[in-house]
Amino acid sequence: MSLFALTSFLASEGKVAGVTDEHRSISQTQVDAKVEALLSQMTLVEVNDITPAEVAKLSIGGVLSGAYGVPPQNNQLGWHQMTTEYQQAALGSRLSIPLLFGVDGVHGHNKLPGTMIFPHNIGLGATRNAELVEKVCNLTAYELTATGVNWNFAPSISVTQDIRWGRTYESYSENTELVTLLGSACVHGLQEGEHHVLATPKHFIGDGGTEWGTSNTFAYMLDQGHTRGDEAQLRRKYLPPYQSAIDAGALSIMASYSRFDDKHMSANTYLLTDVLKNEMGFKGFVVSDWGAVDQISDDYYLSVVTAINAGIDMNMVPIEYEAFIESMKKAVANGDIAQSRIDDAVRRILRAKYTAGIFEHPIIATATSQKLRSAQSRTVARQAVSESLVLLKNERQTFPLPKDVKHIVLAGSAADDIGKQAGGWTVSWQGGSGFTTTGRTILQATREAVTDESVIQHNHQGVFEPIQDMSGAILPPEVGIVVVGEEPYAEGQGDSNDLRLSANDTEVIKRVRTQVDRLVIIIISGRPMILGESLDLADAVVAAWLPGTEAYGITDVMFGDKPFTGKLPFSWPRQMSQLPFSFDQDFTAASAPLFPYGYGLTTN
Ligand code: BGC
Repeated sequence: MSLFALTSFLASEGKVAGVTDEHRSISQTQVDAKVEALLSQMTLVEVNDITPAEVAKLSIGGVLSGAYGVPPQNNQLGWHQMTTEYQQAALGSRLSIPLLFGVDGVHGHNKLPGTMIFPHNIGLGATRNAELVEKVCNLTAYELTATGVNWNFAPSISVTQDIRWGRTYESYSENTELVTLLGSACVHGLQEGEHHVLATPKHFIGDGGTEWGTSNTFAYMLDQGHTRGDEAQLRRKYLPPYQSAIDAGALSIMASYSRFDDKHMSANTYLLTDVLKNEMGFKGFVVSDWGAVDQISDDYYLSVVTAINAGIDMNMVPIEYEAFIESMKKAVANGDIAQSRIDDAVRRILRAKYTAGIFEHPIIATATSQKLRSAQSRTVARQAVSESLVLLKNERQTFPLPKDVKHIVLAGSAADDIGKQAGGWTVSWQGGSGFTTTGRTILQATREAVTDESVIQHNHQGVFEPIQDMSGAILPPEVGIVVVGEEPYAEGQGDSNDLRLSANDTEVIKRVRTQVDRLVIIIISGRPMILGESLDLADAVVAAWLPGTEAYGITDVMFGDKPFTGKLPFSWPRQMSQLPFSFDQDFTAASAPLFPYGYGLTTN
C-alpha cells in the first residue's frame, strides 16, 4: 500500500491519529522508513526468532507460534503475557498497527497443555454434523482468545485422495461435498461470535491430491508433492470448499506447499490471483506456508518477486525476515514488484485486521478470565467424540456393552494413552505418546462407565492373571477391549506406505482373543488401517480416529447411553495395494474397499 493509501485508509477509519498530519511535512528518510514499514506488514515471523522490540522496529505484520514456538511458561498466563508483549510493542511503534498472532489450532488450542483437545477433522467428518463442527471451532476460538491469539491457521479443507498422506486426519473427508459443508461451518465458528479469530482455510489448492513419490522435501512422499490432472478436475474436486469458505467470510487463506501444473502453488499467479482473488472474489489475504516462498527457486530474490507477484500477500518467512524485507525493498525500487501490488497486499491485510476487530481490541482484556476446558467445551467435545465413532463390525450383539459387566479386560498400546488419542499437533508439532496433556483415557473412562462391582483388568500386552469371584470360582472376562492404532505424527513424517496394524498390536489382539468371550477392537488412528486377520478375530470393531481428550464420548456409546451413528468419511481399504482409491471411482470386486465411504453400523 502506498503511503497515501495507507494514511487515507487509517484516517478514514479514525483509528490512528496523527498519521495524516505527519504525512504533510514528511522527509524523504521518513517516507522511506514508512514504505519499509508497509512492506514489513507483509511479513510473518516465528515467535522464537524475533523479539517484541524488533517487531516494533520493523512494523512486522504478524508473529506465529509454529511447530515449536511456545512461551517459557507454557500455560495460559504465559501465552497471554507473550501475545500481550508483542501486541504492546506493535502498538507502540510508529504506525501503531496491531499484530496478527497466529497458531495452528487445528483441534483446539492444541499447543497449550490443559486445553480442550477435540477430535481431529477426520473424526468430525464422520459426524456429518455441520452445526457441531461450528460449535467445536467456536470453542477453539474461545480458547485461543483466552491467551490473546487472534489468528488460526485452520481449518484444513484438503480433500485427501490418498490416505497414505500424513495429513489425512487434518482432512474432513475424501468427498468434496462433505469438506465443503464442514469447512465453511468451521470458518463461521472461528470468525463469528464474541470470541473470534481469523480463520485460514488451507492449503490452496490441491494439497490432498499429490502423487506418491513426488515430494521435493527430503524423506516425504506425498506431502509437499505434485498434484496432476487437468484444470477441470482440479476445479471440480478442490475448489468448492474454498468458494464456500470465501462465502462464509474467510479473512485469510494459506497457499499450499504442493505444486499444480508443474508450478509451486506460491508461484501460481493464475490460481492465486486470476482464480482465487478475481474469479472467486476472495477479498482477504493470501499467506504463504512456512518457508514455502524459499522453495520456489535457488535465487531468493527471484523467489520473493515471483511469490508476491503471483498473489502472496503475507510471507510466512519465518526466520530470515530481514533478508525478505531487503529483497522487497530492492524489488520495488527495481520495478520488479509494482507499487500497486504492495498496495493491494497491505490493503488486504489491514482490511482483515479491521474486520476481525483487531484495531478495536488489539489486546484481549478478558483473556485471562476466560476459562480453558469449560463445562461447555467438555460437553461439546464429548458429543463430537460420540458422533465420530464408526462401528465397522458388531456381531453376537456385542454392542452396547452392559454397564454391569462382571469382568472386563483392557489391553493394547492406546488403551491408556492421552497422547495417542490426541495424535499429531498436540502440545508439540508431531505430538507424542503418554500423558502429554490433561484429559481422560479410554481406560479411565471405562472405569467410570461400569458399575462399582465390575472388575476391570488392564495390561498393555494383554497378559492377565485369572481372577476369582467370591465363591473362589474363576471369573472369566466376558469382554476384552483391545485399543490399537498409530503412533502420533504430523505432516510428511506421517506419509506411510504401510498402514497395517503393527505386529505387536496384532499379537495382543490374538492373545486377548483366547481369554475372552467377546472381543472388541478400538482403532485409534489418523486414517483407515489395514485390519487383516484381526477383523475376523473380533466380534466388534470401532474406528475412533484421533478423538482427543474426552474419552467419555467413547464409553457413552460403547455402554449404550448413546447410539453409534458415525459414517466413514474415507473408503476403508482391504489391503495396501488398493491405494490410492476414492469413493467416486468405478470399483471391481477386486478393487472394492473393505468398507465403502459412508459405511457405519448403528446401535439403539
Ligand atoms: C504447515 C501449515 C502450518 C504452518 C505453520 C506448515 O508446516 O504446512 O499447515 O500452518 O506450518 O505452523
